[in-house]
Amino acid sequence: MISTSKRLDGIGEYYFSQKLKEIEELNKQGAAVINLGIGSPDLPPHPEVIQVLQSESAKQNVHGYQSYKGAEALRKAFSTWYKEWYGVDLNPATEILPLIGSKEGIMHICMTYLNEGDEVLIPNPGYPTYRSAVQLAGGKCVAYELKEEQNWLIDFDQLEKQDLSKVKLMWVNYPQMPTGQLPTREMFQNLVAFGKKHNILICHDNPYSFILNDHPMSLLSIEGAKDVVLELNSLSKSQNMAGWRVGVLCGAKERIDEVLRFKSNMDSGMFLPLQLAAAKALNLDKSWYDSVNEVYKSRRTKAYELLDLLKCTYSKDQAGMFIWARIPEGYKSGFELSDEVLYKAKVFITPGGIFGSAGDGFIRVSLCSPIEKIEQSIQRIIEVRD
Ligand SMILES: Cc1ncc(COP(=O)(O)O)c(C=O)c1O
Repeated sequence: MISTSKRLDGIGEYYFSQKLKEIEELNKQGAAVINLGIGSPDLPPHPEVIQVLQSESAKQNVHGYQSYKGAEALRKAFSTWYKEWYGVDLNPATEILPLIGSKEGIMHICMTYLNEGDEVLIPNPGYPTYRSAVQLAGGKCVAYELKEEQNWLIDFDQLEKQDLSKVKLMWVNYPQMPTGQLPTREMFQNLVAFGKKHNILICHDNPYSFILNDHPMSLLSIEGAKDVVLELNSLSKSQNMAGWRVGVLCGAKERIDEVLRFKSNMDSGMFLPLQLAAAKALNLDKSWYDSVNEVYKSRRTKAYELLDLLKCTYSKDQAGMFIWARIPEGYKSGFELSDEVLYKAKVFITPGGIFGSAGDGFIRVSLCSPIEKIEQSIQRIIEVRD
């Protein structure tokens, strides 16, 4: 009998990986489920980005291992991008670490800083990977609840009442997934002050700032932030490159060096043509973001119709590629509504409870499907309505 490690205790298979198997089963029986769950952009990257990948990969000398710190061209492109869009100065040689997607960065940070029993503040509702990465690294999650009546912003008064003596790290993510809440400058300032006061490393995960949002904000734009903040960013959503796996970690040189001590033992760099193509993607101008957002805007209007049909309520001020919506009375939870829509109408919508208990009364609709699919989902729901 081969047993798994203790660190895997309590770590289940990722919800979507499990659910996709269930959907596959339904599809085998002929269901043709429409998946309005997962947040993987269906639109392609800019054609020039693909051109760079093609032309660079045809070269002779680009197929070897690459630097652990990423190609200089990519680090410089991230630095220029941060300056242009977020107004943040980052030294490309020392304050930027390209990643194989930002998800791996969550794990790297946890492995770099956590000792057994160290406490970590994680948002409820929030991206489930924060919890699993903390647990895998031996840390203990302490959830902080975000509330609809507080616009899903962090309640510092509540946090200050807690015993923070063992808290080493805090995960934060605005625009917030799954609630779509945008950050406020005041909350960002409070976060930096909170990190400094309690000696907590604030880890900001920022993959959604360009989607349905005209004012991208970085936590590193707050004065003094580099003392206590690490920020993750990603090309998955804003450049339509989720499968390419390109992200970045930004912060003070000391922090970047510390995380690199761990990461350089995990992988051996990224394919150079991919890094050069990513650099190209970071150079795209405003018209790129506008064109992507035009598509999401029209889908969003259609998705509102779908949510109205399900009698859900929602804020129209959300950023990111999802709509977060409260379920109507009569359902025990978002799981119940999600399963009903899946099994009756063959449409998959994510139940909010997978993001934590505070998401129980909600569902999340993804905007990563063509408008025709959202329309078709509406028709299917109408057909099976009692
Ligand atoms: C909040 C959040 N952080 C990080 C990620 C991971 O993104 P990446 O593709 O850069 O690993 C996701 C992906 O869905 C996400 O929703």
